[in-house]
Amino acid sequence: MNTPESVSPESVSPESVSPESASPEIVSPEVLCRADGLAKHVTGPGGRLTILHDLSLSIGAGEAVAIVGASGSGKSTLLGLLAGLDTPSDGDVELCGERLATLDEDGRAALRAGRVGFVFQSFQLLPTLTALENVSLPLELGAITDAPRMNGSGPTGIAREALERVGLTPRAGHYPRQLSGGEQQRVAIARAFAPGPRILFADEPTGNLDLATGQKIIDLLFALRADAGAALVLVTHDQALAERCDRRLGMRDGHLEALA
Ligand SMILES: Nc1ncnc2c1ncn2[C@@H]1O[C@H](COP(=O)(O)OP(=O)(O)OP(=O)(O)O)[C@@H](O)[C@H]1O
Ligand SMILES: [Mg+2]
Repeated sequence: MNTPESVSPESVSPESVSPESASPEIVSPEVLCRADGLAKHVTGPGGRLTILHDLSLSIGAGEAVAIVGASGSGKSTLLGLLAGLDTPSDGDVELCGERLATLDEDGRAALRAGRVGFVFQSFQLLPTLTALENVSLPLELGAITDAPRMNGSGPTGIAREALERVGLTPRAGHYPRQLSGGEQQRVAIARAFAPGPRILFADEPTGNLDLATGQKIIDLLFALRADAGAALVLVTHDQALAERCDRRLGMRDGHLEALA
């Protein structure tokens, strides 16, 4: 698809994206996430609303991509579609080599398990579980595919280690309602990276953090990339975080464009 919204890791020039290289049928091991002709429409009180317009992009293994844009421009909607948490009205997404359109909800969940991390803008922690349990649950459910990482410590050990890395060891036994917004955000980040995903989507991961803690979390995300070669797809208003990424994409009224 050679649309003005086509953005590939190989080049930010839309003209250079050949129809072959953008075909959803071609699975490159280097491409972890590819969207082709993605659109999202919803029906609201005012009639049909188009949130995303026919956009295409491609994210390579180990790549860090920032998505920036005004509130309401469609960033969270795009992230949810790329990670298979929501279904598009048009177009298709290929994630970790599989076309999401060919999978049902259970199939998409199985694909994500252990390979795809997601940090929600609203955290989405389970209120009846402690911080430690929130992080260890996906590991116990089998999200961890990389047995050597278990290191004899099991899900709880890995979860403890993840909480330590976000500086929350003293809060491990707290329930979400007993945590500040920034602490909940760090639990959500620990939960997303604990299984060692190949691609991590994070929706404003530093949005609720002070400067020093935010910097620590950014370092942690980039360490995940350095250690495990994970791709990072980060929605952010944080200029410093965007600058640190390999590419910056701008979202405007549901259209995506490459930024300098
Ligand atoms: N289910 C829905 N029904 C109707 N409108 C929706 C729905 N989901 C999102 N929208 C609208 O789509 C637009 C894009 O929403 P989205 O949450 O993707 O924006 P965003 O760029 O993430 O904004 P923010 O920076 O404030 O988080 C908004 O105008 C929102 O009101
Ligand atoms: Mg959002």
